[in-house]
Amino acid sequence: MRLSTYFLPLLRENPAEAQIVSHRLMLRAGMIRQSSAGIYSWLPLGLRVLHNIEAIVRAEQDAAGAQELLMPTIQPAELWRESGRYDDYGEEMLRIRDRHDRDMLYGPTNEELITDIFRQNIKSYRDLPKNLYHIQWKFRDEVRPRFGVMRGREFLMKDAYSFDLDLASARRSYNKMFLAYLRTFARMGLKSIPMRADTGPIGGDLSHEFIVLADTGESQVYCDKAWLETDILASTVDYDDDLQPFFDQWTRLYAATEEKHDAANCSVPADRLLAARGIEVGQIFFLGTKYSKPMNAVVAGPNGEQIVPEMGCYGIGVSRLVAAIIEASHDDAGIIWPKSVAPFDAGLVNLRAGDAACTDASDALYQTLRNAGIDTLYDDRAESAGAKFAAMDLIGLPWQIVVGPRGLQKGVVEVKNRRTGQREDMTAETALNRLRAAS
Ligand SMILES: Nc1ncnc2c1ncn2[C@@H]1O[C@H](COP(=O)(O)OP(=O)(O)OP(=O)(O)O)[C@@H](O)[C@H]1O
Ligand SMILES: [Mg+2]
Repeated sequence: MRLSTYFLPLLRENPAEAQIVSHRLMLRAGMIRQSSAGIYSWLPLGLRVLHNIEAIVRAEQDAAGAQELLMPTIQPAELWRESGRYDDYGEEMLRIRDRHDRDMLYGPTNEELITDIFRQNIKSYRDLPKNLYHIQWKFRDEVRPRFGVMRGREFLMKDAYSFDLDLASARRSYNKMFLAYLRTFARMGLKSIPMRADTGPIGGDLSHEFIVLADTGESQVYCDKAWLETDILASTVDYDDDLQPFFDQWTRLYAATEEKHDAANCSVPADRLLAARGIEVGQIFFLGTKYSKPMNAVVAGPNGEQIVPEMGCYGIGVSRLVAAIIEASHDDAGIIWPKSVAPFDAGLVNLRAGDAACTDASDALYQTLRNAGIDTLYDDRAESAGAKFAAMDLIGLPWQIVVGPRGLQKGVVEVKNRRTGQREDMTAETALNRLRAAS
């Protein structure tokens, strides 16, 4: 992509309305723009990151055996009256009336809708277990939308719903999502800590919140310092394994949100207890028959008996993750994208857009990089070197390749690693191989 034609409205100044670094950087890097309180448009650069995050979420959900579908954003109120939540959900729910005076709502979550799909289409014990998910926009009329997409009113969520014949099977479904969540966040370069959590208005009695530690997080959390040393991607556990030992091992270390933390009975010695702020990037719940029972979702068992399935629900804040990753990975100059979610693999900078030799060499390298499958943002603008470097650092692509007149005379380009800041001169061919090896 040539930057001269790309829609990337960068801001030089820090926007006054942004209180936390991820919000500031998302605005400055031209990733999002607010349209009304807590509601954002995703501009091309931001959308690329959102899509990359979605792809990782999708890959792990699929690997864990969940199946993707897509439910609508607008739901009929009747379903929520059946579960009893239409009145309970309160002011966070955006209620809408259509031209026929039917009560509708913009879904804040989808337990009712998925249970309705289930009961209409799944009738036999042979069809279970099932885990169905979608990645869809939600609306919650938060009292205090703030921190950009971190706490929006409209936000993108992955929500999965499992249906099982009995408790043991429901437990297996829960454990699979537990593993999927740890892997999903780790693949985005985040260390997430599963914490025993309150079940809140969704109900049920087994739940974990996945928390990424960050000073700007809205949750107060407590955990064993040993959590900082864990690495889920080093584990060889597989979704088809018996995951209970894995679950037991990964929950043995203490971790609890404020609501569940009990200072008097906490098992961690004081010198190992970390009290910190954290960002909730996902939450999983065992629901039991909280929805299947009132909504009369049943399947026929082997002897014709009726079985009420045990359910679970599993949410990931897809749009919140964009901000959470920035909170975890930035410096004074801007964002530092982990390569798994970076909007482009590399940035190519032509230092002298007015110089024919520089431009020819840059154009040629751009073509070579593209042919090699390296997704490149090519700064071909007639801007000062300083402005170009600042822009590249701000948008945080993992690699920068700088083509300048002095290097060209020596037959080299400069390659900079955004994370380490290390710069190195090398031939264009070596640069290509370096990037190929890294991606
Ligand atoms: N207002 C929001 N803006 C962005 N993401 C959100 C918002 N509310 C929830 N999420 C994300 O969706 C995930 C699943 O939703 P869940 O119902 O568990 O949210 P929640 O517990 O109400 O979140 P919170 O406690 O932050 O309000 C959360 O873990 C979070 O990552
Ligand atoms: Mg939650």
